[in-house]
Amino acid sequence: MLSRHILKNSVRCQSWWSHVEMGPPDAILGVTEAFKADPNPKKMNLGVGAYRDDQGKPFVLPSVREAERRIVGDKLDKEYAGIAGLPDFCNQSIKLALGANSPVVTEKRNVTVQAISGTGALRIGSEFLAKYSKSKVIYQPTPTWGNHVPVFKFAGVDVKQYRYYDKTTCGFDEKGALEDIAKIPKGSIILLHACAHNPTGVDPTREQWKKISEVVKKQGLFVFFDMAYQGFASGDVDGDAFAVRYFIEQGHKICLAQSFAKNMGLYGERVGAFTMVCGDTDEAARVASQIKILIRPMYSNPPIHGARIASRILNDPELKKQWLSDVKGMADRIITMRSQLKDLLKKEGSSRNWQHITDQIGMFCFTGINPQQVEKLIKEHSVYLTKDGRISVAGISSNNVGYLAKALHDVTK
Ligand SMILES: Cc1ncc(COP(=O)(O)O)c(C=O)c1O
Repeated sequence: MLSRHILKNSVRCQSWWSHVEMGPPDAILGVTEAFKADPNPKKMNLGVGAYRDDQGKPFVLPSVREAERRIVGDKLDKEYAGIAGLPDFCNQSIKLALGANSPVVTEKRNVTVQAISGTGALRIGSEFLAKYSKSKVIYQPTPTWGNHVPVFKFAGVDVKQYRYYDKTTCGFDEKGALEDIAKIPKGSIILLHACAHNPTGVDPTREQWKKISEVVKKQGLFVFFDMAYQGFASGDVDGDAFAVRYFIEQGHKICLAQSFAKNMGLYGERVGAFTMVCGDTDEAARVASQIKILIRPMYSNPPIHGARIASRILNDPELKKQWLSDVKGMADRIITMRSQLKDLLKKEGSSRNWQHITDQIGMFCFTGINPQQVEKLIKEHSVYLTKDGRISVAGISSNNVGYLAKALHDVTK
């Protein structure tokens, strides 16, 4: 009787998943948790990369609201999309990236599929590379977006680094990057942030891009472009696509991940695209067939609502004009916040060189402060940011830029 009781209990205690260890919390979502728990009314969350308006509120773009209104008015059905998503969205998406007159587009050498935002596009690409690339190693900049490493590793592509950011200047480490890229084994894969590098906000100049292109070509590297911020860097979607278009002009072999999370504010709709640029239409057809075979068991086919919004906007000249002005408005507000923050730090009496705040572009600013200063900023001023000293400039507004300048000066003086 007793032994039967013990046996029953031990079966109950020995859970199926007892061997699973607790994993570390996500670095950025952890910042949000701590922010939420802080009762200080002056608290600021500069951790998350999502745009806020000058009242600090999430922003739905007027062009998106209008596109959505029209879509709802059309009473469309809710049938499945194909495995590759909505064809019209895919066409518009690649034209936005490469330009409508790009020979890749006119010669139909692109395979473009709808993806679950930028992350999903990276994942489709990494799965394809893991299966079909001769090299299974991707070289990524240091630092890079935190998710780049696991996305490729989980797909079976090994991740290595090249130098990118210069801590002493808070700028691009041109010498280090070119030296490292020149040593990457021939035929490997390289990841390049197309614009508004995350987390540093540091982009190469056009002249520097040209130098990068030369070394990449010399090493015969395959380029994986990640373009999550087209339009967000400068406010100009064509200007921000310079690197991708230049590399194609130079005859590089590339693939591309696009996200509409930031530039259309479609964060939760998960709208993105993956493109493989092929040598000819025959190769494109074969590659397309294999990409669909990879997508089908992952999620069958992508969601339709967000892609409908994006393609409506990109297809309709009036909506597109509105969207371009919406994007410019967001980029300009961020640029204004950068210069106000720099000026206010000077007014506070800071003797540090804060030039990089306005030199860096896009959503993020790598402030250059150390982990102790980050901790002080959080503990004593309730200003939340990631440990590497990155702040999302999109989270700063006219109401709190003064508070932030005071706090930053306090922890750095
Ligand atoms: C560099 C970079 N790539 C890709 C993404 C993908 O974002 P999402 O999956 O939300 O489109 C992000 C988002 O922060 C990013 O910063």
